[in-house]
Amino acid sequence: MKTEINLRQVVFSLSKALDLVGVDDMHHGKRVAFMAYSCAQHLNMDVHECDTLIQAAMLHDCGVSKTYTHKKLVTELDWSGSQSHCEIGEQLLLSCPVFSYLAPVIAYHHTHWDKLKDLDVPKAVKRDSNLIFLVDRVDALIAQQNIPEPIMARNIVREKIQSYSGTLFSPNLVDSFLEASNLSAFWLTLESEPLYDMLRQWVADGQNQMISFETLHSIAQIFAKIVDAKSPFTVEHSQGVARLAKQLAIWDEQSEEIANKLELAGLLHDLGKLRVPDEILEKPDKLNEIEFSVMQGHSFESHQILKDIKGLEDVALWCSQHHEKINGSGYPFKYKGEDISRPARILAVADVFQALAQNRPYRGSLQLEEIFSIMSDMIQSGNIDASLVNIVREHANECHRIALVEYAAEKLHI
Ligand SMILES: [Fe+2]
Ligand SMILES: [Fe+2]
Ligand SMILES: [Fe+2]
Repeated sequence: MKTEINLRQVVFSLSKALDLVGVDDMHHGKRVAFMAYSCAQHLNMDVHECDTLIQAAMLHDCGVSKTYTHKKLVTELDWSGSQSHCEIGEQLLLSCPVFSYLAPVIAYHHTHWDKLKDLDVPKAVKRDSNLIFLVDRVDALIAQQNIPEPIMARNIVREKIQSYSGTLFSPNLVDSFLEASNLSAFWLTLESEPLYDMLRQWVADGQNQMISFETLHSIAQIFAKIVDAKSPFTVEHSQGVARLAKQLAIWDEQSEEIANKLELAGLLHDLGKLRVPDEILEKPDKLNEIEFSVMQGHSFESHQILKDIKGLEDVALWCSQHHEKINGSGYPFKYKGEDISRPARILAVADVFQALAQNRPYRGSLQLEEIFSIMSDMIQSGNIDASLVNIVREHANECHRIALVEYAAEKLHI
């Protein structure tokens, strides 16, 4: 199976997921991409080099899942714990053939220049990683000023960055930043609308390519790992849902294409959870009404992230519907009955089964008997599809094994 896809669109959409980790400080990856690109204009970098830089900048914090880590990174100029997210990000990108060439840049994006300059690393990697470090710190410095408009931080940020020339940052890159940031347009573009306009144009200028299912799968895997690493309770949740949804589709005699796409949907369905603060996701007690509505926002956010990727529209739709219920009482759109397609119902059943089989902060994992008793109640109240639950029941032990097979085998603590 091959799908025609613009990889720039994929990077852009997935960077939206990473930016959600900021919770109340959104669009960080995009601001870093824009600022790095602006500096690149003063470094005579060619189109191809700029493209690599923009992609690396948008994905630079893919090693961050927790809102706690994000907060540390934006509130401290040089946090001693910053290296770990660089290494996790490097490993994640290395696992994906189309993005592995960005891995070295991510590995060094918090390394001080006075150390980096002597390392045995290609020149372009040193330049890109140190430039991303520099503009990343610009974004942190702006956030620390507590001001309504980025342009109000202009002088203080320029002075501070200049003071680290030759220590944290390459003097050459500091010069490029001072030139780029001399324009008021530089600061004004950091507001979300001009920022999105600029990056949407970059996406529109990208070429469509035929991408294999294996490649799409390896990209989706990166993001499933980022979401699943947000909490020890959801380790492997997306992986388990993906495997089970695919297998249910096969037993349900869906086409190979639908089965494959359901596997992608399983990996991506909870992307929006990146926006849920750690303390809500890991709360050991029942969530109160406000916390519950924040939690419920995640399937809507998953849709927002994925909806613009041409070629994956159905994956985005199924992801958005994974908490919809056949009786119309689900969320976020309150779809009902036939509005919820068979693949969306498969994803929902796989999600419920995997979640019940796995530990949660407020309960332990459940045995098959308990799982089916809860699922029967859900059928009675019109929440999930009875015919699909019957398929799960027919293959109960296998479903349990598929949903949890690699559970705890590969723990990434991001
Ligand atoms: Fe970072
Ligand atoms: Fe960052
Ligand atoms: Fe969910």
